[in-house]
Amino acid sequence: MRQKLVVGNWKMHGSRTQVRQLIESVAASTADLKKVEIAVGPTLLHIGFAAELCTSEDASHLKLAAQNLFTEPEGAFTGEVSAPMLAEYGVNYVIVGHSERREFFAETDQVVAAKFKATQASGMIPILCVGESLSQREAGTSAEVVLTQLNAVIQSAGIEALQYAVLAYEPLWAIGTGKTASKEQAQEIHHVLREHIAKSNATIAEDIRILYGGSVKAANAAELFSQADIDGGLVGGASLKAEEFVSICKSAD
Ligand code: PGA
Repeated sequence: MRQKLVVGNWKMHGSRTQVRQLIESVAASTADLKKVEIAVGPTLLHIGFAAELCTSEDASHLKLAAQNLFTEPEGAFTGEVSAPMLAEYGVNYVIVGHSERREFFAETDQVVAAKFKATQASGMIPILCVGESLSQREAGTSAEVVLTQLNAVIQSAGIEALQYAVLAYEPLWAIGTGKTASKEQAQEIHHVLREHIAKSNATIAEDIRILYGGSVKAANAAELFSQADIDGGLVGGASLKAEEFVSICKSAD
């Protein structure tokens, strides 16, 4: 049985006060949840602070997700943060291939694959995001687009690497738009991804968690998470409101 996972992607939001408040209130309201795994994803600047908060007894059930890293372990790369640095802070997950990074920071499939491998080389779990644009969906190429993105990582890291990874299907047209994919639309692509992996390795396909992301909120989480191939959510906007995020976590428990 795959354990459901809900990850909050805070993007470029939050002050120290907000980070503390969010972690404290999410931790307090989710302490009694039994099944769902929960991770919070502050900015890289706030990772150390969040790590301290998450190691406190009351928040120790929360995992930590980083939103990005650089491909190299160290060196003259001004402004970047490496996998070993994140691992030292106890980071569990790293989001790679988010569409905002592909779009605004020109990250190619090759860069995404290198980040995926760097994450695993430091013992952390990549959350690999894939997803199509609205025009690609309208052209009927959603499956082809997500499989191309996934294959770039498989070719570079090998199919076995998916044993220590999470996938996130995030249709671009649903991110930050308030327009969620219907449960049928999401399930269809999740199934395509799992079937594709199954052709190479049935066990990994059965075990890998595939999250849905794109305007997940308290009102739609339960129906999305009830789908056979949806194993939780990657939550942006709604993860900044403790009550809303907690309600999403409860839907996955
Ligand atoms: P959203 O973002 O929930 O605000 O749509 C999801 C994401 O980008 O991970």
